[in-house]
Amino acid sequence: MQHTVLVTGGAGYIGSHTTRQLLNAGYRVVVVDNLYSGNKWAVPEGAIFVELDAGNLEAMRRLMPRYDVAAVIHFAGHIVVPESVSDPIKYYRNNVVTSLQMIQACRDTGIRKFIFSSSAAVYGIPMQIPVAEQADTSPINPYGFSKLATEWMLQDVSNSDRINNEPASECFNHVALRYFNVAGAAVDGSLGQATPDATHLIKVACEAACGKRDHISIFGTDYDTEDGTCIRDYIHVEDLATAHVVALEYLRRGGESRTLNCGYGHGFSVRDVLGAVQKVSNTDLNVIEAPRRTGDPPVLIADKTKIHQVLDWQPNYDNLELICGTAYKWERNLTEFQQNTENR
Ligand code: UFG
Repeated sequence: MQHTVLVTGGAGYIGSHTTRQLLNAGYRVVVVDNLYSGNKWAVPEGAIFVELDAGNLEAMRRLMPRYDVAAVIHFAGHIVVPESVSDPIKYYRNNVVTSLQMIQACRDTGIRKFIFSSSAAVYGIPMQIPVAEQADTSPINPYGFSKLATEWMLQDVSNSDRINNEPASECFNHVALRYFNVAGAAVDGSLGQATPDATHLIKVACEAACGKRDHISIFGTDYDTEDGTCIRDYIHVEDLATAHVVALEYLRRGGESRTLNCGYGHGFSVRDVLGAVQKVSNTDLNVIEAPRRTGDPPVLIADKTKIHQVLDWQPNYDNLELICGTAYKWERNLTEFQQNTENR
C-alpha cells in the first residue's frame, strides 16, 4: 500500500519541490495549503490538494484518517524576518500556534512521524563558524523564536513518549531540519520560488536581472569579511527537498528524533552572489551599496557533519553558478507566465 504523507505548505516554494520528489519516490501526497503565499498551480500534478489552513485542528483531525496519513511534513509558515519584527503576533500565531495544532492533530490521530522546516535563524549570531546543532540557540528576531519554539514543542512531545514508557514503535519521532539559505529552482525551469515581495538575495538579484527591479542593494559593505559583505551557505532547493525525503525514510526505518543543519558547509559573500547572477544572466546589475540591514549575522555557515552521519543525503547541486542559473531561468519563465496570466 502507498504510504501517505501530508505536506502543509505544499503550494509554496520548498513544499512544492518536496512534494514533487515525494511523488517521484512513490508516495501518495496530500497537500494542505491556505494559499496565503502559495500558488495552486505550484502543487505538483498527482498530489491531492486540500485548500485549508494547517491550524484548523478540527478539519485536520478529520482529514488525517480520511487519507490514512502516515507522516507529516510541516512547511506552512511565514518566512520574512523583517515582517516578523514589525508584526510578531502574526508570526507567533502562524508559526507557533499552527505548529501546535498540527502536532495536536497528529497526537489525536496516531501519527508519529513529523518533519519540520526549521531555520538557521534559531542560532541568532553564532559564536562559532561553521555552526553545529549543539551550539547555543539565541534567535535575534521573532521568526527565529517561532521556529525554536516549535522545535521545543516537538522535542518535548518526543520526550514525553519515552518518559511514559511507550513501546519504541509507538513513540512520536520528528526531524527538525534547520535550513541555511535556500535558493535556486528546478533545473528544467519548471518550478521555483514565486513568493511576491521577495526579500531573499538570489531571488531579488534575479528579479533585477530580469528587469523587474531597477537596482539591487548590498546591505552592508563594512563587515569583517574578505570583501566586506555578509557570507551565507546557499543550498539548492532540490537538495533541500531531497533532505526531507531521506529524513522521512530515516523515520520510517525507526529513526529517533533529530535536529539537523541543512547546508553545504561553505559560504559565499553577497558580492560573490551578485557576480554569479551577472554571469549567468549576462547582465550588468545596478548595484547600490546601502547601510547594514538590522539583524544580519556577518557569517552563517552550517557544520554539516551531523546530517551526513544521520541521513543518507547526497547533495547534487552544490555549485553557486548552478544555483543562480536555475533561479534566473525560473525568474524569466515566471515573468512570462505572469504576463500571460495577466493578459488572459
Ligand atoms: N542582502 C542584500 N541585498 C538584498 C537582500 C539580501 O545585500 O537585496 C544580503 C543580506 O543583508 C544578507 C544576505 O544578503 O547579508 C542574505 O540575505 P537573505 O535575505 O537572502 O537571507 P538571510 O540570510 O537573511 O535569511 C536566511 C534565511 C532565513 C533565516 C536567516 C537567518 O532565509 O530563514 O537566514 O539569518 F532566518
